[in-house]
Amino acid sequence: MQVIATSDAMRDWSRAGRDAGKRIGLVPTMGALHRGHLSLIQAARAACGAVVVSVYVNPLQFGPTEDFRAYPRDREKDAALADSAGCDLLFVPSDGEMHPAGHRTFVEVQGMQDVLCGRSRPGHFRGVATVVAKLFAIVRPDVAFFGEKDAQQVRIIRRMERDLHLGVEIVSCPTVREADGLALSSRNAYLTDAERRAAPVLHRALRAAADRARSGETDAARLVALVRDTISSEPLARLDYAEAVDGETLDPVTAAGPGTLLAVAAWFGRARLIDNITLGG
Ligand code: PAJ
Repeated sequence: MQVIATSDAMRDWSRAGRDAGKRIGLVPTMGALHRGHLSLIQAARAACGAVVVSVYVNPLQFGPTEDFRAYPRDREKDAALADSAGCDLLFVPSDGEMHPAGHRTFVEVQGMQDVLCGRSRPGHFRGVATVVAKLFAIVRPDVAFFGEKDAQQVRIIRRMERDLHLGVEIVSCPTVREADGLALSSRNAYLTDAERRAAPVLHRALRAAADRARSGETDAARLVALVRDTISSEPLARLDYAEAVDGETLDPVTAAGPGTLLAVAAWFGRARLIDNITLGG
């Protein structure tokens, strides 16, 4: 596995791959790699002749009171894990490389960036869309892989890709979970033992609502109330939001059905965790 830190070298590497007829796959990450990230790298490996993993903790997507400084960083471990999952090239740009001095260009996906997590994290998705657009411009992938765990993020990126004619296929991969249902997240590292035991309530609440929907409940407000009540029964959880939205546009729905996205965020101590489920047919 090679490691590259500059956009010029990255572009040259991609161009050489394309000239050799390889399909280039990109897995954007902020590092602290876990099995969730590795599943995306494996999906890229299976579909592409050249696999690029980017590791960049993007300051633009953290709010002033958020965990940018505390965010776990371990370059050596990330490199070993990415390599083991089939990465060909690790792209590790510096801040100056990604956001050159004096930069003033941002990408906004209006409306979609302000709902769900966007309400409690103003500017977050503007930062995400901007850095992903830059990664697409530097790496020029044929296909990019994102996790369904960050459901709002992948929908915003799909919309951005279409709106800006970026020509990148967006693949969304299923959420990888612990045995007790907790979605893997770099932020799970912030949990105390008691919080870690409490955190699977998010998945349990979503599963309960999905079961209720499967038994015929179509009232979105009642499904959301079930999610809220289940999470409220856990004293260590502080709910941020629980909502039922259209699985593509993220617009609120009153009638839930196949394709409806149930999404939640809750605090456990200093960790803000998210999860979601898409209702089936
Ligand atoms: P990060 O949180 O490191 O996640 C990188 C990718 O891994 C995202 O697409 C995310 O959805 C996926 N992922 C995280 N946990 C997962 C899990 N349990 N199962 C499956 N996939 C999972 O998301 C970001 O970084 C950033 O916002 C980024 C897109 C890199 C832009 O900075």
